[in-house]
Amino acid sequence: MTELVEQARAAVLRFFRASSDEYVVIFTPNATGAMRLVGEAYPFQSGDRFLLTFDNHNSVNGIREFARARGAETTYVPSEAPELRVNEMLLARYLGAVVGEHQNLFAYPAQSNFSGVQHPLGWIEQAHAHGWDVLLDAAAYVPTNRLDLSRWHPDFVALSFYKMFGWPTGVGALLARRDALAKLERPWFSGGTIVAAFVQREWYQSAPGAAHFEDGTVNFLNLPAVEIGLRLLERIGIETIHARVETVGSYLLESLGTLRHANRTPAAVIYGPRDFDRRGATIAFNFLHPDGRIVDERYVDLLAREHNISLRTGCFCNPGAGEVAFTISRETLVGGEFGESITLDGYIRQLGLPSGGAVRASLGLASNFADVRRFSDFAHGFVDLAVVPSDLPPRTSC
Ligand SMILES: Cc1ncc(COP(=O)(O)O)c(C=O)c1O
Repeated sequence: MTELVEQARAAVLRFFRASSDEYVVIFTPNATGAMRLVGEAYPFQSGDRFLLTFDNHNSVNGIREFARARGAETTYVPSEAPELRVNEMLLARYLGAVVGEHQNLFAYPAQSNFSGVQHPLGWIEQAHAHGWDVLLDAAAYVPTNRLDLSRWHPDFVALSFYKMFGWPTGVGALLARRDALAKLERPWFSGGTIVAAFVQREWYQSAPGAAHFEDGTVNFLNLPAVEIGLRLLERIGIETIHARVETVGSYLLESLGTLRHANRTPAAVIYGPRDFDRRGATIAFNFLHPDGRIVDERYVDLLAREHNISLRTGCFCNPGAGEVAFTISRETLVGGEFGESITLDGYIRQLGLPSGGAVRASLGLASNFADVRRFSDFAHGFVDLAVVPSDLPPRTSC
């Protein structure tokens, strides 16, 4: 098993063209686990900065709690509607506004799991030039895009393998540059992460490399499947997958963007880029009634399930992108009263939102034109839809 696990580790390095002199592969339960490893062990201190984009998964947003506990300051770089891209002038200003010797961490997604926007990998070098460490959330990017770690050198890369090839679930990775990894200070030790520990003296010695970050038993029965999955992607070719998803995705984007009611008003609103310039095939949208109101996303979800179409609704664990897409201001959030016992529906009412979020269609390795045609037929079912049933179930998660 050890041999197979090490083989899987080497396969990950090979797939991402990462040199073993530069990078270490740490297996985690998922992308979130990779993010947590960085967050809990990054040596934040008072005066340090944690900079991140509005557009981030909650598994990155949550790192701000580690930063806060250690006295570091968190700053968000906003996205701007309608494309939901980052204001790069502002980003450059934030990256440049560091003085003295500090441990500063910048985190962003290579591809948004909300809008599909692909944020520039060039930010890595830009941040490095000002002494920042960079955590690249590559979870949504790597299933359909080449991440070449001989070209780009983020300090930390987080990903989940099931998003790349469907199986196994419960296995992710943190790819970490050796020098960045050496900076991390784990808050504890556990089985598997040390060379030795004493009981009569509170001393332990950390295991070298990846082992120090892999708590307990690794998922050894599933890890060999990672190599098989990566081989599958190699055989098809990630560039081929990329081109395929872009072609099928363009069709999907076009069919949603041109959907009209009989009165010629749009039957859908898309959040994010309207064409395939610097974006992936994750498309967030809402259907609209002929009078311009948003079609309740719960109804869309219900119908999609009846049609055997897998969609997601809500804010996709990405509140920052949602706040910009739905024009929720800082003042509204800061001034609002959100008690501990508030329900999701209560929160949506309190913010005055017209729905519980967007609808998201994502394409990948397995998607084909027949899927998109079927989705397009499904979307045409919303044309001239004036009302939806009033007895939709309460919302439980965003
Ligand atoms: C961009 C992004 N980051 C992080 C995650 C979290 O991944 P996981 O649930 O595998 O931990 C997701 C999940 O959808 C994601 O899309």
